Amino acid sequence: MIRSCVIGWPVEHSRSPLIHRYWLKQYGIDGAYEKEAVRPEDLARFLGLLAAHGYAGANVTLPHKEAALRLAAVVDDAARTIGAANTLWLDKAGRLCASNTDAYGFITNLEGQAADWNKDRRPVIVLGAGGAGRAILHGLLTDGTTNLLLANRTRGRAEALAQAFGPSVRPVDWEDRNRALAECGLLVNATSLGMTGKETLDIDLEALPADAVVADLVYSPLETELLAAARARGNRVVDGLGMLLHQAVPGFERWFGLRPVVTPELRAHVAATLGET
Ligand SMILES: NC(=O)c1ccc[n+]([C@@H]2O[C@H](COP(=O)([O-])OP(=O)(O)OC[C@H]3O[C@@H](n4cnc5c(N)ncnc54)[C@H](OP(=O)(O)O)[C@@H]3O)[C@@H](O)[C@H]2O)c1
Repeated sequence: MIRSCVIGWPVEHSRSPLIHRYWLKQYGIDGAYEKEAVRPEDLARFLGLLAAHGYAGANVTLPHKEAALRLAAVVDDAARTIGAANTLWLDKAGRLCASNTDAYGFITNLEGQAADWNKDRRPVIVLGAGGAGRAILHGLLTDGTTNLLLANRTRGRAEALAQAFGPSVRPVDWEDRNRALAECGLLVNATSLGMTGKETLDIDLEALPADAVVADLVYSPLETELLAAARARGNRVVDGLGMLLHQAVPGFERWFGLRPVVTPELRAHVAATLGET
């Protein structure tokens, strides 16, 4: 039996088991996907004993994503650029390999939900320069976006990312976010604002072109206030659940040897649990 897990501290909230166990059952694979609550001070030891624990690999969630990257022997381009790992596996030589599949998940979902989202290559505006913002920037730039505005409450973080990612990324003052929407073909919320239990995202969509796409990384609630406001004025919307499902695909394929498909049934299965925590 092949086993994998998600490692976090805490780990209870993770929806990864729901996704991977669904696929294991769906494809009749003799495998298991566990939750492993690992304290930060125990991460290095746990990863060193991954094979001894019987695992082919693991997902990594908060607060271990940066540490897992440092501990990996082999790191792919996405994980290195994003500065964090969310997917680990052991290669044939037993070396710990790391990837980050968030950018892949975001772009794949965006293209699935809004295929022609930026056919005329208009500017894109991203809100949030945290870990998720970094992944979105990597995804969009790799996909060919050349004109990216980045607004973050703490301007220094946006400037640091602009520095790291080069001249295609321009920082925008958080206070100027409403005005900056003009001409944009895509608005992405990569802040934690709008999540159940957090403050709402204060934004006025007035200047956003009517044919722009609005994507929210927040998936709990599924329909955030941002998406509801965008939908009400006729913009196409892309929610955060699709990204969550798609980012799981490469890990499942690595561990269990089959590339799983994100289906409406899987989406409904996970969506049914949202709002519970
Ligand atoms: N759908 C998915 O698969 C997926 C994947 C990854 C993440 N996410 C979601 O993405 C969101 C961000 O995650 P993260 O890992 O990037 O978190 P993070 O590293 O903690 O960053 C949080 C971001 O939110 C901003 N922020 C927080 N409170 C704010 C406030 N009151 N006003 C303005 N900005 C505020 C922060 O700005 P400052 O820099 O000024 O603090 C920062 O840009 C979370 O909701 C997470 O669940 C979804």
